[in-house]
Amino acid sequence: MWEGKAPGKVILFGEHAVVYGRPAIAVPVNGVEARVTVRPGRRGSGIWLECCNLPAVGQGNGGYHYPFREAPAGDPLRVAVLLGLTYVGIAPSQEPDLVLTISSTIPIARGLGSGAAVTTALLRALATYFNRPLSAEETSQLVYEVEKLFHGTPSGIDNTVIAYQQPVYFVRGEPVELLQVGAPFHLVIADTGVTSATRQVVGEVRQRWQVERTRYEGLFDAIAVVVRAARAAILNGEWRALGPLMNENQALLEELDVSSPELDRLLTAARSAGALGAKLSGAGRGGFMIALVEEHNIAPVTEALQRAGAAQVLSTYVTSPAET
Ligand code: PMV
Repeated sequence: MWEGKAPGKVILFGEHAVVYGRPAIAVPVNGVEARVTVRPGRRGSGIWLECCNLPAVGQGNGGYHYPFREAPAGDPLRVAVLLGLTYVGIAPSQEPDLVLTISSTIPIARGLGSGAAVTTALLRALATYFNRPLSAEETSQLVYEVEKLFHGTPSGIDNTVIAYQQPVYFVRGEPVELLQVGAPFHLVIADTGVTSATRQVVGEVRQRWQVERTRYEGLFDAIAVVVRAARAAILNGEWRALGPLMNENQALLEELDVSSPELDRLLTAARSAGALGAKLSGAGRGGFMIALVEEHNIAPVTEALQRAGAAQVLSTYVTSPAET
């Protein structure tokens, strides 16, 4: 059996502004992952997709099993398989006999990058099966193709952080900077339980930007200042300084009007329980929030978030790859 895996991700600083050319920082979430295994199928079977716990386009929830050639054109897994086959040098007309089993513990449509992670895991699994090297850069570019089809005009930060599997400082259209984390730190990550359609929230921000361009450009510039300060704090190991910067970034996101009562409730709960700072992560309006916590405070902050109604609470340790 051959397999590919990929972690989840959170945007630490700079969401939305990153769509307008400002920098953003994202980090992998290692406690959750997408996993794809490949095994040879029956002779003449073609490719079968087995999705253990993923809702897919038009298929509803739950486990199911279907031949790749019958997948609807709008099925992201179909698109990812086609890209993967092309990458390993196989024409889709020469469909190999394979069973691809796809599973993921990354919550869907909450800003944790589940789509990009499933595509990454699938490409890695196919590359391993066909014995083709696949660099992080190549992975990121292929995943971006799938992201573009399903998410409108993504900045590219999701595919980048997931393909590189380490903290990134990202500016659209520029080479990625892999961030060296001077001193590791903990994040608690909590789900509002409200799904958030990134495409829609990004579209609404764009409409408001068109009407109030000067104000929005000013807010994006202010976010960029926060992100640059956060980059310096991460590099210098001054992770406590990230707390106030997260609160500042959140205040600017509120001015962009992308927070929500559910997010605000969780942010207040985390801060009252001793988090050093907290903000929404991703598109907003729902999805996840993140809080910076000292290690001894992980349990109290987690409990406070659960009491405040979080649907799920995760935590992750942010570090450079050599230290994991
Ligand atoms: O909700 P997510 O994690 O897909 O993040 C969206 C982040 C935005 O900056 C709002 C959009 C983007 O493409 O970067």
